[in-house]
Amino acid sequence: MENLQEKILQADSLEALEKVRVELFGKKGLLAVEFAKLKDVPGPEKKAFAEGLNETKAKLQAAFDERYEALKANEIESMLKSEAIDVSLYSTLAAKGALHPVMETMDKIIDYFVALNFAVESGPMVEDDFHNFEALNLPKSHPARDMQDTFYFNDGSLLRTHTSPVQIRTMMTTKPPIRMIAPGTVFRRDYDLTHTPMFHQVEGLVVEEKGKVSFANLKAILTDFLQYMFGNVDVRFRPSFFPFTEPSAEVDISCIFCAGNGCRVCSGTGWLEVLGCGIVDPNVFKAVGYEEVSGYAFGLGVERFAMLMHKIPDLRSLFEGDIRLLEQFR
Ligand code: DAH
Repeated sequence: MENLQEKILQADSLEALEKVRVELFGKKGLLAVEFAKLKDVPGPEKKAFAEGLNETKAKLQAAFDERYEALKANEIESMLKSEAIDVSLYSTLAAKGALHPVMETMDKIIDYFVALNFAVESGPMVEDDFHNFEALNLPKSHPARDMQDTFYFNDGSLLRTHTSPVQIRTMMTTKPPIRMIAPGTVFRRDYDLTHTPMFHQVEGLVVEEKGKVSFANLKAILTDFLQYMFGNVDVRFRPSFFPFTEPSAEVDISCIFCAGNGCRVCSGTGWLEVLGCGIVDPNVFKAVGYEEVSGYAFGLGVERFAMLMHKIPDLRSLFEGDIRLLEQFR
């Protein structure tokens, strides 16, 4: 009996204890063997014998149960220890996100103009003919409408082809003077190395009392802006045409790839076209009911800026959502 209790106490794991259990309490275990002897015990001694055995069995069972609880508690404790996680541990593997290069470029552009007190305006992407074309001096029959490959809905509304309609919306709800930019998404039916059907523009508009702004102001601010974006580049204004400005200009910077010497990117010209601008056409002011004012406007494509700043050869790659490409801009 002492011996058996000792056996239970010495079991140092649940597996060892299980072996002891089979040995003692199993069908062919030591207790079973003892109980089997009962039938050979002479009548008068049977009772005492049986009582003795039951007592022993109860004691061993109690010892067993106690040992089992102790070993089980041990096992749980060591499991908790070995599986513990230090949540305060710093992980160097954590993946960090990054701004999309187009949005990063947009932010940089916005920062420049906000610092000069321009308000940031917005308008709907689904526009009507009046705001997108008509009020911008692009009447129905105007050939310049062909320049903008428009997505139309059946009801005649359209996806805005530029951010210029925000000029119209702002002027129709605000009294002059105005000093605003309108960053936003625009849409055209176009798809090649340098065009995607969805892209982004930033529009700018300044309106003052008649005679208070001139082409010289426009030239000064855009030159400074382009040097802020691209560093120490030359800036050139080339006469051009937009229905909503007169006179109009396209603006070039000296090629940032060849420093103006001529290369494949600038088609050997040494210049890169980066935006359009001009003095607001009187017909635009008439459409929104403004009188005795003058102003200038400009518009630029954000993707074009991002491509030049990051030397991205294929614009479409920016919108394929390939994490490997985007990770390079972190
Ligand atoms: N809306 C023109 C475009 O999408 C860009 C533009 C050119 C806007 C000249 C202007 C501007 O405000 O004056 O191509």
